[in-house]
Amino acid sequence: MCGIVGFIGKNGSLQMLVEGLKRLEYRGYDSAGIVFQNGHGLEMYKTKGKLRDLQSILPDPAPTIRVGLGHTRWATHGEPSSVNAHPHRVDKVAVVHNGIIENYRELRSNLEGEGYTFLSETDTEVVPQLISKYLRQGFSITEAIRLAVMRLRGTYALGIISESSPDTLFAVRKGSPLVLGIGNGAFYFASDVPAFLPYTRKFIFMEDNQMCILTPDDIDLRHIESNAVVSCTDRTVKIGWTPAMAEKDGHDHFMHKEIYEQPRAVRHTIGERIDDLLKFVADLGIFTQRRADSRRLHIVSCGTSFHAALVGKYMIESIARVPVSVEIASEYRYRNPIVERGTLFVSITQSGETADTLAAQREAKQMGARTLTICNVVGSTSTREADSVLYTHSGPEIGVASTKTFTSQMAALCLLAIGMAVERRCLTEEEADAMRSRLSEVPGLIEKTLMKDAEIKALAGTLVHAKDFLYLARGINYPIALEGSLKLKEISYIHAEGYPAGEMKHGPIALIDKGLPVVVLAPSNDLFEKVFSNIEEVKARGGRVIAVTDSPEALKGKADDIIEVPSTHPLFTPFVNVIPLQLLAYHIGVQKNCDVDQPRNLAKSVTVE
Ligand code: AGP
Repeated sequence: MCGIVGFIGKNGSLQMLVEGLKRLEYRGYDSAGIVFQNGHGLEMYKTKGKLRDLQSILPDPAPTIRVGLGHTRWATHGEPSSVNAHPHRVDKVAVVHNGIIENYRELRSNLEGEGYTFLSETDTEVVPQLISKYLRQGFSITEAIRLAVMRLRGTYALGIISESSPDTLFAVRKGSPLVLGIGNGAFYFASDVPAFLPYTRKFIFMEDNQMCILTPDDIDLRHIESNAVVSCTDRTVKIGWTPAMAEKDGHDHFMHKEIYEQPRAVRHTIGERIDDLLKFVADLGIFTQRRADSRRLHIVSCGTSFHAALVGKYMIESIARVPVSVEIASEYRYRNPIVERGTLFVSITQSGETADTLAAQREAKQMGARTLTICNVVGSTSTREADSVLYTHSGPEIGVASTKTFTSQMAALCLLAIGMAVERRCLTEEEADAMRSRLSEVPGLIEKTLMKDAEIKALAGTLVHAKDFLYLARGINYPIALEGSLKLKEISYIHAEGYPAGEMKHGPIALIDKGLPVVVLAPSNDLFEKVFSNIEEVKARGGRVIAVTDSPEALKGKADDIIEVPSTHPLFTPFVNVIPLQLLAYHIGVQKNCDVDQPRNLAKSVTVE
């Protein structure tokens, strides 16, 4: 999705805006632009393509600036082109936008009827047109923005700059994320925290229907409709992330770095919570009011977070014996769901800004469910709106494909499962202690699995020309088959499907022919023999089996390729099994020359439906 940056202050530079946009590149984009006050008026540059294309048309040397806006556009309305790129300028006003103005057709045709001329095909251009119209009618810039915004339907984060107010910058939010950074003699705003981490760790997450008027010395936050002032003092959040966390740190790609950060990420998720799981569960408010408050869990999420939710279902049902249903957020929100008393609604979202997940959480809350969100981004929308929050503490994830936040989400769900099991007395003290100590070993096991990197890279070289892949697994590893196939699709654009191995005979077996790569997760558990039979079935039809197993001896001569992973408790096998699948997708993507950090058509936070 689009990325927005804004700056106002004494010691700014154009480079600072470009660097801010660079730190938002992960969001995906196809064009970019910048506007700033140059002392005489607005100066604007925009182009189709990447930030290096924008940089090639920017003034050299880069001027210092006091006020400016930047934007990376992910096309929705109108093809990627320099005309459709943001900022959009009408008379004295320039605007950058993330989101979708749903009623833009109606607004545009009214304005065209009044004689206004549009240059682009975007939904965004109605915004500067409306603001300019109100300015011409004699309203102040602040009033003109308020009046214009009140006519918009849809989702928007807006950055606005006006030639007639050279010392002011405006930010507006409804439905799309926007965070304000409080610096030293400067203010920033951006679609996401990493944009300005080198300059500040103090942030205010704007709420929907708020407008912020920034001058070099003052921040004025208001509710758009009532115009009432909102106090900033108790809204400032300190973020513990460091700028280095948002750098590649010697790795070729963020995805590779983040795959390697998993031991640390999981350690952080588990943290001290593991020492007192009863307190952990109580702090989340799960059982505090009435035991009946959490008779069942309903977990809702999208993409990779959905796969973590499926793993969570196996964990929680297996040891805490609480029924868990799991659903894709975009389905949940439109099917008029039944929310019975005693349902704990859990959203899982790395970003905390996924539009469908937020809508589902709001729906559940409105229907009376208690809500818990499992999230990575401090202060994000899902964390502000949920009744309680379980932070994953994975650190910033820049690669579009989720890796470390996935394993952290699974770790958070493990804690929840063991904690609920202890609270409900489904585990004895000794059993809980044993699980705790096995869980504490998981980061070390991930480290051990990462040592397979070179081996997997070589294997990837033999698979790079495959057109299709099948991923098979059973039980708690079935969601890992789904996740492995999603990673491959996202990163290498190779078609892949994940299936429960037992379902193969009911259709997918028809796909198997000579050489089809079939990745099979075969941990040595009570389902091993059944998975072994599935491997035989694939081999009998000429498929190429790539087995991920802790029992390589048992598969020698059967599987074509074997990736050995360490043994662990059956419930924790997803942690070790997912690592080779992430690395396989990564290396195939790299060897196919794909942009693994910013795969085509994808966005890191999907803030529109
Ligand atoms: C993961 O690799 C994806 N890019 C995507 O499926 C992602 O998990 C999904 O969009 C949900 O995002 P969230 O966790 O931020 O809500």
